Amino acid sequence: VPLTFGEEVVGELRVSGRQPGQPLSQADERVLTDYASQAGIAASASRLAAQLELARQRLVAAREEERRRLARDLHDGLGPQLASYTLTLDAARALLDTTPAKAADLLVDLRDQVQCAMTDLRRIARDLRPAALDGQGLAGALTDHLARMRTDTFDVDIALPETLPAMSAATEVAAFRIVTEAVTNTLRHAHACRCRVSMTVDDLAGLVVEVTDNGRGLPASGPRGIGLASMRERVDELGGTFDISSDTGGTKVTARLPLNVPT
Ligand SMILES: Nc1ncnc2c1ncn2[C@@H]1O[C@H](COP(=O)(O)OP(=O)(O)OP(=O)(O)O)[C@@H](O)[C@H]1O
Ligand SMILES: [Mg+2]
Repeated sequence: VPLTFGEEVVGELRVSGRQPGQPLSQADERVLTDYASQAGIAASASRLAAQLELARQRLVAAREEERRRLARDLHDGLGPQLASYTLTLDAARALLDTTPAKAADLLVDLRDQVQCAMTDLRRIARDLRPAALDGQGLAGALTDHLARMRTDTFDVDIALPETLPAMSAATEVAAFRIVTEAVTNTLRHAHACRCRVSMTVDDLAGLVVEVTDNGRGLPASGPRGIGLASMRERVDELGGTFDISSDTGGTKVTARLPLNVPT
């Protein structure tokens, strides 16, 4: 007897007659059908609970990964930077009496380096919470962010609809993070000179986010970072779909996100 919940078959109830070869009576079958409809509900509930638990675990794991990345950015990036400044300061102090001009040069260098560190720090803070979203909305925040990534040798092209529809905060944040990570990847790994970001709104798919570059494509194997995994997690969390494809002409990241996510 199939166990069903709504239209879906969630299991199977196997029964045998009381005696070998003895068929089930009509009364038996009625009872079994009744029983199966109850058991179907129970089976479906326990399956949903298991799925929920799995989703919760994945969510926790994803958060943990992000913390690890933040720790790594702070520890391996800013930490050594600050340490090297103290060395430069020591050197400058040592030169102060004998060759003050050299000390001054060191201090000028140091000033530039501190400025770099401040940029890094701002990036880390921005990654934690894209505050720009609150002030400017998704389109404004992205345009602003991407403009800052554009250089003479790296063109970032943005195609957004004239107005984006209202959407959940979760969708906005996910879209923002996916685009910024994908463009950062392009900048870091692709050896690309151009990157295109596009967003379209589709009745069926919701918000479709695409980031394409003209770089060398994904390596066949190599270290697996947090970036791609966390993009995928974000999309999964919202019930969207994520896709990354590449060939020698470049890489394309596509995320489809539902506009409205129940909270
Ligand atoms: N646009 C791209 N072009 C070429 N290779 C890419 C691109 N995006 C990702 N990759 C490759 O996929 C790997 C995994 O990317 P991922 O973002 O997950 O990690 P990462 O950028 O190396 O580190 P992080 O955890 O800081 O993001 C990269 O190391 C790189 O080799
Ligand atoms: Mg990355």
